Amino acid sequence: MSLSFLATTSPTLTNSSSFDLRPSSSKAQVSIRRQISCTSSKPKDQNENVANDLIDRRNVLIGLGGVCGATATFGNMAVGAPIQPPDLSTCRLANDLQLTNRVDCCPPYGSTPVTITDFKLPDASEPMRIRRSVEALETDPKYLAKFREAITKMRALPADDPWNFMQQAQIHCAYCNDAYSQVGFPAVNLQLHGSWHFGPWHRYYLYFWERILGKLIGDPSFAIPYWNYDQPSGMRFPSIYRDPFSSQNSLFNCNRNPDHMASLMSYRYAFGDPNPLPEEEEAVILANQKQLHDIFAENLFNPENFLGQPLSEGQVRNGPGALENLHAIPHRWASQVYRPYWDMGNFHTAARDPIFYAHHAQIDRLWSLYKDQRGTTTPEFDQPDWLESSYIFYDENRNVVRCKVKDCLSTSALKYTYQTEDRAWLNIRRTYFNKKRAAPRSAAQDEMVAVSEFGTTPRVLDTTIRALVPRPKVSRTKDEKEEESEVIFIDDFTFDSSDTAGFEVYIARPEEGLVSADLGEFAGSFVHIPHSHGQSDQKNILHIGITYLLEDIQAEASEQLVVSLVPRSGVVTIAGISIERVSRQVV
Ligand code: C2O
Repeated sequence: MSLSFLATTSPTLTNSSSFDLRPSSSKAQVSIRRQISCTSSKPKDQNENVANDLIDRRNVLIGLGGVCGATATFGNMAVGAPIQPPDLSTCRLANDLQLTNRVDCCPPYGSTPVTITDFKLPDASEPMRIRRSVEALETDPKYLAKFREAITKMRALPADDPWNFMQQAQIHCAYCNDAYSQVGFPAVNLQLHGSWHFGPWHRYYLYFWERILGKLIGDPSFAIPYWNYDQPSGMRFPSIYRDPFSSQNSLFNCNRNPDHMASLMSYRYAFGDPNPLPEEEEAVILANQKQLHDIFAENLFNPENFLGQPLSEGQVRNGPGALENLHAIPHRWASQVYRPYWDMGNFHTAARDPIFYAHHAQIDRLWSLYKDQRGTTTPEFDQPDWLESSYIFYDENRNVVRCKVKDCLSTSALKYTYQTEDRAWLNIRRTYFNKKRAAPRSAAQDEMVAVSEFGTTPRVLDTTIRALVPRPKVSRTKDEKEEESEVIFIDDFTFDSSDTAGFEVYIARPEEGLVSADLGEFAGSFVHIPHSHGQSDQKNILHIGITYLLEDIQAEASEQLVVSLVPRSGVVTIAGISIERVSRQVV
């Protein structure tokens, strides 16, 4: 089988592989306003509230008066204070512009005054909860039965019980689809994605979900599983969540993409991409692991590029880190392909699929692995605007608690840990390049083309943009690299955040202004899951570390690089591309 290694890992402009890498805007777009396929085989409770929580926009306009108009946002200004938990009494209908509807995601507590206490770490004498992979559960029927029983019990709670499965899912909607304003900033929505809040907020969310499940089955050591898609064997939809044949499987959800239940997930999946062919799978697995490797290696000492950009009170999210961009892929891949991308593909509904929690446990695990790799217990950010920021959750003792970022930075203090798994991908770089060098190149890949600079006029990314970008310094020494990372800045790009959006970034080394038609090496991607606020003028940033990638493509001495942006979904407008040196955080 003559699979071109490059065909899957580095699409060329003249791509003829079976991967369809055209921008999705050029593919047949099917827009279905509302698609609920959960009818016949639907286990009870799962999507019942779907119809109930859709409220016709007209009623809302009548009922809420000015509130709808209050979603305009400020640009990011230096406010300099940690974000505060929401004022629960102000919870309003959330946005889902994919549905052109408003949805009720407000918690059942909160309308009457509630007592909020400060979160306390669990007692040191508590048993350590050991989170294992979804695959480990496959071979532990007793544990699996316990997990399914806990979810069954959670689904069976009264609909307005804050522990109820659907109520738990609504927490995600409320915090992500504009149900709250930031306290003191009525025009700024509270949003937990797209910044350095992504990691800590989801950590707390899972922490309480796990402990509530443990309570429901009376097991204080109960731990949730994680979806181990860093491992080749974990890059498919976990079987324990899949089996639809018995209504006993409380992990089943019918709003998923049926074409992806057995296929291999590519970390570069965009809606509409075909599944990898069997002969392509090896290259896809390797490309996935290399991508994960780079996310760690390039960002180890630039945590804002890994965990997300700073966000203080009064500011609007503008920069997911590499971990969050990667995390958007399983969301997309698990979800239905059509608007509004039920369930995982839309933040309003994502947490209705039990796979959400296994997916996020994996993201949480990758964050703790990042911390291990940094070799320090020092927080990734020392700014009080991060450490002192706080959120509100309903805990396993039925209290409403205020949780600060600084209290969730040690998983062992939170009394849970992840079972160690093979981490060979942390050292995948050599294997990847050996394989790549050995792969035959086509004549088209070697054809040379001219490329010019990006210029100063914003451009819609409707076809691949290739630009010659100057580097600030060439031939950097090892010491210089340890002080400063080299980073591609794609700043101030815009898109409609209520829809899906995304693009990929490749780098190549030019020779006298010419570059091979091959896009070169994958450097990173931006991947957006639709949620709320439809402002298309909100400016976003993507920063991709390339220090070691430059060595890999032997470009350390090049004064310029060719940076290629490949549209993958949605309509994104690019304002500019530059390469900068960024100080590394010394830990
Ligand atoms: Cu809050 Cu994976 O999303």
